[in-house]
Amino acid sequence: MNDSYALVTGSSSGIGLEIANCLAQKGYNLVLTARRENKLKELTNELITNYKVKVDYISCDLSDPKSPNKIFDFCESKGYFIDLLVNNAGYAIPSTFESTSMEDEEKFIRVLGISVIALSKFFIPKMIKNKHGKIMIVSSVAAFAPPSSIQTLYGPIKTFMNRFSESININYNHIGITSTAVCPGYTITEFHSSSGVQDEMDRVPSFLKKSAKRIAKEAVEATLKGKQVYVPTKTYKLIVFLIKTVPQSIFSLLSSGLAPGRYDKK
Ligand SMILES: NC(=O)c1ccc[n+]([C@@H]2O[C@H](COP(=O)([O-])OP(=O)(O)OC[C@H]3O[C@@H](n4cnc5c(N)ncnc54)[C@H](OP(=O)(O)O)[C@@H]3O)[C@@H](O)[C@H]2O)c1
Repeated sequence: MNDSYALVTGSSSGIGLEIANCLAQKGYNLVLTARRENKLKELTNELITNYKVKVDYISCDLSDPKSPNKIFDFCESKGYFIDLLVNNAGYAIPSTFESTSMEDEEKFIRVLGISVIALSKFFIPKMIKNKHGKIMIVSSVAAFAPPSSIQTLYGPIKTFMNRFSESININYNHIGITSTAVCPGYTITEFHSSSGVQDEMDRVPSFLKKSAKRIAKEAVEATLKGKQVYVPTKTYKLIVFLIKTVPQSIFSLLSSGLAPGRYDKK
């Protein structure tokens, strides 16, 4: 018989690592994936020791078009039934649009977008068969915010993922499958240093910087409840409310003060 598992992409650090911890604490068996095998191995051992759940990992680069299939085949060959798919892996390109190569942009869209669609495509059929399944897409407040002067495609791909999540809900809610687009604001992880935008993060006021543990806990709770879109923390709920209600010219002035790096003209 197949065992139920949660698959967490980008679980070698930050929000994904904390989501894996939170799910293991709740008794979920886990498949972890990211590129850094040493980190995955370390976390696997920790989770098995701390929570007595089954944990396995597969190291993959999601910018490689073959990776989603490789992850699916790995789960199939081991008899892991994925009934919770967490699409979390992501990064930002810290450059102006004209200075990146098309290859950079394609890889970026593959990791944050196409791999999410591909993994959903692979794992949804069995969820349909079992009339049960949950998907989490770690999106961003950037899905709602005015486009940034750098990271040109970051906001647009997150908006696309929110819309994709809505489509999953419209098509599959009636058979017991839900998709939750989780939209965090600034979160303290490796994201800003590994994406080369740590200076932007350093200029953000501390009340806007949230811990990855807190974001993960709220994200998991919202996903298990089947919420469609979830903005963690009261601070960012208010910010998203303002984005949706205050005229964009006024909001842009506000955001230049609070998130200066995002709106600098290069
Ligand atoms: N931090 C924030 O302020 C913030 C705010 C809103 C939304 N988010 C979103 O939150 C998600 C998680 O980011 P984080 O903040 O936790 O950053 P992080 O600490 O840098 O974690 C990113 C994860 O994605 C994995 N990853 C990156 N590129 C990959 C690739 N090509 N193939 C496979 N895995 C890859 C990384 O693992 P390896 O390097 O080992 O591959 C790592 O596990 C992202 O989708 C991000 O857009 C972050």
